[in-house]
Amino acid sequence: MLKIDELTGGYGTSQVLFGMSFAAQAGEAVSLVGRNGMGKTTTVRMLMGMLPTRGGQMALQGRSLTKLAPHAVARLGVGLVPEGRHIFGSLSVEENLVATARSVPGRTSWPLARVLTLFPRLQERRRQSARTLSGGEQQMLAVGRALMTNPLLLVLDEATEGLAPLIRQEIWNCLRAVKQEGMTIVVIDKNLGEMASLLDRHHVVEKGRVVWSGTPAELQQKPDLAHRYLGI
Ligand SMILES: Nc1ncnc2c1ncn2[C@@H]1O[C@H](COP(=O)(O)OP(=O)(O)O)[C@@H](O)[C@H]1O
Ligand SMILES: [Mg+2]
Repeated sequence: MLKIDELTGGYGTSQVLFGMSFAAQAGEAVSLVGRNGMGKTTTVRMLMGMLPTRGGQMALQGRSLTKLAPHAVARLGVGLVPEGRHIFGSLSVEENLVATARSVPGRTSWPLARVLTLFPRLQERRRQSARTLSGGEQQMLAVGRALMTNPLLLVLDEATEGLAPLIRQEIWNCLRAVKQEGMTIVVIDKNLGEMASLLDRHHVVEKGRVVWSGTPAELQQKPDLAHRYLGI
């Protein structure tokens, strides 16, 4: 589904990515994990067409994303839950969702009703303005907004940051449900243990490239690796 191959680039004269490579098969959930400042968000910005690449290739279902503008990447089927929530506080929950809705012929699998079924808290609050939601609910709304674009690939950048453990669990449960529907997912998050039951594969990022990849069970057998690259 997704292939990221030897990406390089950064900001001005500062190079951040040094040959970033990873892939996700259709229906898989994979992570990018690693300490702050290692280039995970930079990778997401390049994937979404928000930051130019200097080298390397990116493809979705074999179609190149490498030189595409953000709207074209979204149209091909990449949905992003960005770092920070980026919802419209003055709009209602439902208006926030409808604002990103994109029906795709043959692929409209996430109409409003289905997103609201996935998140009953959003259903209950659909007429409230988004700013009245709790942090966890706002994050659910951000996930719902990404689903409303009917993506083939869902990318979540620190979606559980700042949330209480029980709320994080709700987010993971929803993502498991979305995965069961066949969604391919790339998740960037610090909560390794909590993601274990969602993920097929971790990619450990260090200084702008993947230095290790393996299953959550394999990572658990490598405490030295977790300590060295993840600081845990
Ligand atoms: N807009 C920017 N301009 C300049 N440098 C940036 C910018 N965004 C991030 N960086 C730098 O790029 C490096 C990687 O950052 P980032 O991709 O955000 O890391 P991560 O998401 O893994 O924490 C860091 O050194 C960070 O300071
Ligand atoms: Mg980041």
